[in-house]
Amino acid sequence: MTVNVHSGWYLAAFASELDGEAVPLDIGTRRLVAVRGEGGGLRVYDADCPHRGAHLGQGGRVERGCLVCPFHGRRIGLGEPEGEGSRPWVREHEVVVCGDAVFVRLTDGPDDDRGLRATLKELAAAKPLVKAVERPVAAAADLIVENAFDTDHFTALHKVYRVRGMHHHTGAHGELVMDGEFPMPASPWRGSGAGPSPAAARAYVPRFHARAFSPGVVVTEFGPRHEVHVIVTGAVPDGRGGCVARVAVGVGEGRENQLPMLIAGSERALAEDIAVWEHLNPRVTPRYDTADAAVVAYREFCAGFTDLDPLEAP
Ligand code: FES
Ligand SMILES: [Fe+2]
Repeated sequence: MTVNVHSGWYLAAFASELDGEAVPLDIGTRRLVAVRGEGGGLRVYDADCPHRGAHLGQGGRVERGCLVCPFHGRRIGLGEPEGEGSRPWVREHEVVVCGDAVFVRLTDGPDDDRGLRATLKELAAAKPLVKAVERPVAAAADLIVENAFDTDHFTALHKVYRVRGMHHHTGAHGELVMDGEFPMPASPWRGSGAGPSPAAARAYVPRFHARAFSPGVVVTEFGPRHEVHVIVTGAVPDGRGGCVARVAVGVGEGRENQLPMLIAGSERALAEDIAVWEHLNPRVTPRYDTADAAVVAYREFCAGFTDLDPLEAP
């Protein structure tokens, strides 16, 4: 089954691209509106006007702590009001902004965080995320995060030199973890302006440590201990069977000169994946074998999130 709108986290947007005080931020068929607060902070609410269902992100405006609906001008409260009988209101959703990356959680209970909030907090301080790629994909959203768990495709599709010791397990917060190594004959950062270093001349053994926190967000730490980059990949369903894939990357302080190459690498890898995803035949029943154990585990992990759009399910 294809995951439609699931509970849990999404990499919903890049903050630098959210222009305006109230902008649409839909996740599949779930209509949301992002509102910039007085201090510049970003908050996200359901976008359906309780009166007649106008989209509050399509022409709505913020006025004295309310959204004014574009259709009949009613004032809609932001978040649940305290007292009974107050004005109509729209529900708020949890948001975490990490660098330029905006994460939104459609929650169905306390269990669907899976540890991402704390992970993003650490990242925001050490390796704030910048935009690498944003691309519409004519394929199901769950393929995007699944990719981190697809052991064989790294060498076959991305021409990674070698993949070693890949194994998966469930982490302390119910996140799905994939660990392994991608040994290379030499550092890919040689000549990248990072400066000559004795380490660059030796074999380079980056660790691959990917954690899926929802069917739509995977955080991958990649690199040897002294030089770990973070690559966050997300997929948001578009409500029409496809999705928007986003990749955000983060590097440690002083390594900003490595960002262009990291971004170019992310673009290239995603393009290689998309060329396959968009030509997959979804009617073929998968014949998983032992090499697909982590993919099967990812599918089971996805089944642990609530489908928030059951009417749309096939
Ligand atoms: S639909 Fe929003 S005020 Fe009527
Ligand atoms: Fe891939």
